Amino acid sequence: MAEKASNWFFLIHILLQILKIHAKVPAIIVFGDSSVDAGNNNAISTVLKSNFEPYGRDFFGRKATGRFSNGRIPTDFISEAFGLKPTIPAYLDPSYSIKDFATGVCFASAGTGYDNATSDVLSVIPFWKELEYYKQYQKDLRCYLGNEKANEVLKEALYLLSIGTNDFLENYYIIPDGRSSEYSIEEYQNFLAGIAKDFVTQLYNLGARKISIGGLPPMGCLPLERTTNILSGSECIEEYNDVAKQFNEKLKGLVEELKVKLTGASLVYSDPYGILYDMIQNPISFGFEYAAVACCGTGLFEMGYLCDKLSPFTCSDANKYVFWDSFHPTEKTNGIIADHAVKGPLAQFLY
Ligand SMILES: *[C@@H]1O[C@H](CO)[C@@H](O)[C@H](O)[C@H]1NC(C)=O
Repeated sequence: MAEKASNWFFLIHILLQILKIHAKVPAIIVFGDSSVDAGNNNAISTVLKSNFEPYGRDFFGRKATGRFSNGRIPTDFISEAFGLKPTIPAYLDPSYSIKDFATGVCFASAGTGYDNATSDVLSVIPFWKELEYYKQYQKDLRCYLGNEKANEVLKEALYLLSIGTNDFLENYYIIPDGRSSEYSIEEYQNFLAGIAKDFVTQLYNLGARKISIGGLPPMGCLPLERTTNILSGSECIEEYNDVAKQFNEKLKGLVEELKVKLTGASLVYSDPYGILYDMIQNPISFGFEYAAVACCGTGLFEMGYLCDKLSPFTCSDANKYVFWDSFHPTEKTNGIIADHAVKGPLAQFLY
């Protein structure tokens, strides 16, 4: 009986391998902010970096790649789940070339946003420029694979977008006389959604067909925001969470609208809000111990250069924490978010 069962498992395993080889997604192409930046900021002049210890201490080779986590980020896990590489390289990392980028490439930049004014705050790569890099990538890929094969890859690739938190937390709510003096919060959300719409339409016109638009996390529960709420017992800032939920509804509406407009495209909305909120509200049931403070340093405010190897009190086991630094999840959290996306909205792209 046991032998029979193991034969079946063997058969199923082989079948899955065959399906993987014939997986419809030949590459994963990433746009966005620090939630998915694999190290592009290492190559530019900005203070927003993470290519030093203790970042990456649980990554392959304990390498601080510029990912804002102790290990891998969600897009790495998604790539692995699709039978591609276990990590997606950053386009501006000189140690990779088009040979590596042919199955996955990341154009994301920590600190950026939909709004040009957001990328200006910390001199990072504006969202529109990520698309310019993508155009260059298309040229490189056509040189490398030939037109026909490259066009096929660009068409069948899965495009993942994850961006928007910084427009609110680094820009709208922080810069006096900035966007908040120009726009009400609702108007600003519409402004950003308009940029998202343009971006996706341009991507479609360049040949992309399988596109996932990621929503915002419960940004009022990021440890840095809770710290600013210290007078109210460091609770989550409900106003920010509400704004995230409202904006996510707009993105969902946008996806529905574009599904009709962009013929032949498969668009999905990926929601990190619910799963991350569950982890924060109920860390124990996911195997975590701490959700209100982060692992790095005091866990209250450190990120980027403030989270370095001299930071006192950095935790020894990041797996006990939902957040790695005051703004970014741990690798364990990233794995759970990715798994949730792969089994949910991205499942239709698997085979
Ligand atoms: C952002 O800047 C780019 C480059 O200057 C420009 O083409 C684009 O229209 C700007 N976006 C918005 C929404 O103003």
